[in-house]
Amino acid sequence: MTLTTLGLELPTDPRWVNIAEMNIGDILIDHAYCEQKAASSCISLIVQYSDKEALVETLTPVVAEEWGHFQRVLKELRRRNIPLGRQRKDEYVNQLRSRLRRPVGDQNEQLMDNLLINALIEARSCERFKLLSENIADEGLQKFYRELMISEAGHYRNFIELAETYLPAERVRARWKEFLAVEADIMANLEVRGDRMH
Ligand SMILES: [Fe+2]
Ligand SMILES: [Fe+2]
Repeated sequence: MTLTTLGLELPTDPRWVNIAEMNIGDILIDHAYCEQKAASSCISLIVQYSDKEALVETLTPVVAEEWGHFQRVLKELRRRNIPLGRQRKDEYVNQLRSRLRRPVGDQNEQLMDNLLINALIEARSCERFKLLSENIADEGLQKFYRELMISEAGHYRNFIELAETYLPAERVRARWKEFLAVEADIMANLEVRGDRMH
C-alpha cells in the first residue's frame, strides 16, 4: 500500500510516528474513537440512504468490521490498563468536514461528498497504520496495525466504488481530486502531535 495507490498527495510528517510511539496510550485512545466514529458514520449512511441497495449491502458488513476494530483497540487499552475516557477533539476530521461542506443541492452530489469524505479518512488512516506497523518496536502492535491497514484499504475502495455506483466515474474523479488537495492543505497546516491518529 503506497501513498500513490491511496491517492494522497502529502505523506505524513516523518516525525509523527516516533512521537506517536512515545505516546502510544494516547494514540490508542484516539484510535479507539476513530473506529467508533467509522462505525457510526457507516450506520448514518445506511440510515440516510436506506433505499440505495448497493450502499446498504456494502456498508452493513463494514459497520461490523469497524466495530470489531473498536473492540480490538479496547482490548489493547485494557491490556495496558489505560482507560478509554472521553472523546478528544478531532481537529483533522472537523476541518475536513467544515472545508468540504457545501450548500445542500443535488442529492447525488451530496451522497458523493459524504462517501468521499469517508474514503479520505480511510486512506489517511491506512497510511498512518502502515507507518505504525513498520516503525514501532512493539511486535504485537506491528501485526495489529498491519491487519487494520489492510482492512481500511478495503474500506477506502468500498467508498470510492460506491461513489462510482451512483455518479459518473469522471465526476467522482474530479471531485476526489479537489478533496485530495484540501486534505493535503489541512495536513500541511495541522500541528504534528503524538496524541492523535491524524
Ligand atoms: Fe477501522
Ligand atoms: Fe475503515
